[in-house]
Amino acid sequence: MIKVEKSFVEQMFSLKDKVALVTGATGALGGAVAKAFAYQGAKVVLTGRNLGKLQEIKAEFALDSLGCEIISGDPAIESDASKIIEYAASKLGRLDILAVCHGYNKPKDILEQSVEEWQTIMDADLKSVYVISKLSASQMVKQKSGGKIIITSSARSKMGMKGYTGYCASKGGCDLMVQSMASDLAPHGITVNSVNPTVFRSDLTEWMFDKESAVYQNFLKRLPIGRLGEVEDFVGLFSFLASKASDFLTAGNYDATGGYWGN
Ligand SMILES: NC(=O)c1ccc[n+]([C@@H]2O[C@H](COP(=O)([O-])OP(=O)(O)OC[C@H]3O[C@@H](n4cnc5c(N)ncnc54)[C@H](OP(=O)(O)O)[C@@H]3O)[C@@H](O)[C@H]2O)c1
Repeated sequence: MIKVEKSFVEQMFSLKDKVALVTGATGALGGAVAKAFAYQGAKVVLTGRNLGKLQEIKAEFALDSLGCEIISGDPAIESDASKIIEYAASKLGRLDILAVCHGYNKPKDILEQSVEEWQTIMDADLKSVYVISKLSASQMVKQKSGGKIIITSSARSKMGMKGYTGYCASKGGCDLMVQSMASDLAPHGITVNSVNPTVFRSDLTEWMFDKESAVYQNFLKRLPIGRLGEVEDFVGLFSFLASKASDFLTAGNYDATGGYWGN
């Protein structure tokens, strides 16, 4: 007897009635992930530090007949993160999914960079992930029905690069934090995974997409798939990791790189 139920397969990617919090929702990836979750049936809460931009995105969602809640705050500040999660839980009754999509980088040679500049990157890309994940997990544990935490790391978590002492260290930290959090949270039915992309199009990376440029051509030499990423390339993996199709997967750092290799 083959052990796969039709009803399971038909519903395995559905997020109907789930409540999802997306950080960095004002950014290229976060906005796309939030919208994908909403199309999958989730009730979504969008957060970022920029309230004006969150309001613009809420209006954009409405044009597509999608609802969302918005709340501004800095995920690295414990009181802000706490306010964000309390808002999600009180407005929508619970929190089932956290997608961490915020991030920051300001590359600089170690000899030029101040310790404060390095710390800013570490706080934006590592401390914030710890704080928002910890508080989200506490809410999920209280609810006693599991949960899904998905962290945006980077292909740079495993490859150092000139000027990237902060970014690579923080993303490497995210990968190991994912594995450690997964162990802490498994007894509570909460899975924790990361998505590790290579370069995709956003305001900050748009300049790399000039096909005539040496930067683009250099990337292509190490990109078997033959192009850089677009946000739509990643929403499937986020949706999968947020859904019950991935219930057995935890502590994973999933490369989403088009086969990118080398440095
Ligand atoms: N783009 C790429 O090629 C690429 C490649 C690999 C990995 N990633 C990772 O993918 C994630 C999303 O990247 P993206 O390209 O979508 O970025 P993005 O468009 O620049 O958006 C990132 C969002 O993060 C928030 N943010 C910026 N600085 C922050 C800080 N100091 N503290 C907290 N939040 C901050 C901003 O929102 P607010 O100002 O509203 O807070 C911003 O909208 C990041 O984790 C990034 O490291 C990106």
